[in-house]
Amino acid sequence: MDRIRIVGGQKLNGVIRISGAKNAALPLMIASLLTNETLTLENIPDLADVGMLLRILGHHGVDHSIDGRRPGAPARASRALHLSARQIVDTTAPYEFVSRMRASFWVIAPLLARMGEAKVSLPGGCAIGTRPVDLLLMVFEKLGAVIEIEAGYVQAKAPKGLSGAEIHFPKVTVGGTHTALMAASLAKGHTVLHNAAREPEIVDVADCLIKMGARIKGAGQSTVEIEGVGSLSGARHVVLPDRIEAGTYAMAVAMAGGDVMLEGASPTLLESAIEAIEKTGAEISATNEGLRVRRNGRGLLPVDIATAPFPGFPTDLQAQFMALMTKAKGSSRITETIFENRFMHVQELVRLGAHIKLDGDAAVVEGVDELQGAPVMATDLRASMSLVIAALAAEGETTVNRVYHLDRGFEHIEEKLGACGAMIERLTDRA
Ligand code: UD1
Repeated sequence: MDRIRIVGGQKLNGVIRISGAKNAALPLMIASLLTNETLTLENIPDLADVGMLLRILGHHGVDHSIDGRRPGAPARASRALHLSARQIVDTTAPYEFVSRMRASFWVIAPLLARMGEAKVSLPGGCAIGTRPVDLLLMVFEKLGAVIEIEAGYVQAKAPKGLSGAEIHFPKVTVGGTHTALMAASLAKGHTVLHNAAREPEIVDVADCLIKMGARIKGAGQSTVEIEGVGSLSGARHVVLPDRIEAGTYAMAVAMAGGDVMLEGASPTLLESAIEAIEKTGAEISATNEGLRVRRNGRGLLPVDIATAPFPGFPTDLQAQFMALMTKAKGSSRITETIFENRFMHVQELVRLGAHIKLDGDAAVVEGVDELQGAPVMATDLRASMSLVIAALAAEGETTVNRVYHLDRGFEHIEEKLGACGAMIERLTDRA
């Protein structure tokens, strides 16, 4: 199993190109199931989750090819991915897939909408909390599907097709909104979503669905209206830049010091995080190329944050911001309001010398002058990156174990950070 070795203390200087957003790429790939024509997606990041989803989609009958890629060339050599679900060959998504990648549960929406049936394994627990799917099932029931849960599988049936409905989300859910948009696009009649998620990735997927012929109004606002159509066509779409990757590297620069251009990062996608990072004393400026992040000399100021649905502070940057606060001059309070139990990184940060106490849904971080390198364990995708950030500013050597979590969501981190002067390398154990 791969590990990442980091020797802390180097400033970061240079350019980091921001990849396409994982959280848009995955639902966009899933949307290819909605049409028998080809969907072409550009700027797809080279991530383990993308590879896994390609295998899952292949199981349902989706053929794929990657543009102009010579045999043996790395996936990042070209990022245009063509997906073609001419024929759906299987409407069952087995446990072995869904348990490995939660978002693959979302295939239920296009399968149900296009084929009138889907059988998808319940995703099960995960390191950041129970993460139920009750609201997604509520969406399909409102749209007229009959849902049964048996032996760990959700069986959804709508033999006569789905019908538009008025849907009120009691809680903002990204997955619920993605699946509602996909299912309602092929339902008969009018659907209104109330309290829909407003994340930029929702807007990106809605934009692509519109190119495919869907009639969606208001994506990015809390109320979204969808007029169902009989079928959807192919399209070409460029995935938006990854705001979580951009925010993560901005925090890495704030932590390590230096001057880095985050090429392609979009400030409008990241306002709440930029505001928090600026309050720590780092400077961020938007340029034509992206975001320039600088911190020189000065110490970090403590800043309290609370995660919230977009446009609030993203839960996917909570762990990274906590890492930054471990070296702030004073005490900060980090409140997690989206997921219960998304503090798995706390114990690992403590192993690096951080002072953190949990207080219900909050973590209180007392900044320390120095962190010390140590062996640590990646627990989930974003938490792993918090350990990398802390390690960049720790004295001595840190090895991050279970790096497959990082590879799921961050593209080529050792190359990107290494090019900016970080002492970082991947250690591959040959079993
Ligand atoms: C997506 C993102 C994830 C991010 C999260 C919140 C992808 C692939 N993943 O996950 O990176 O951290 O949004 O921004 O885009 N909930 C229910 N019932 C449901 C569905 C959700 O109670 O049926 C709860 C969840 O447990 C959680 C909250 O709603 O407390 C928000 O979850 P949700 O927005 O659905 O997260 P995901 O779509 O799974």
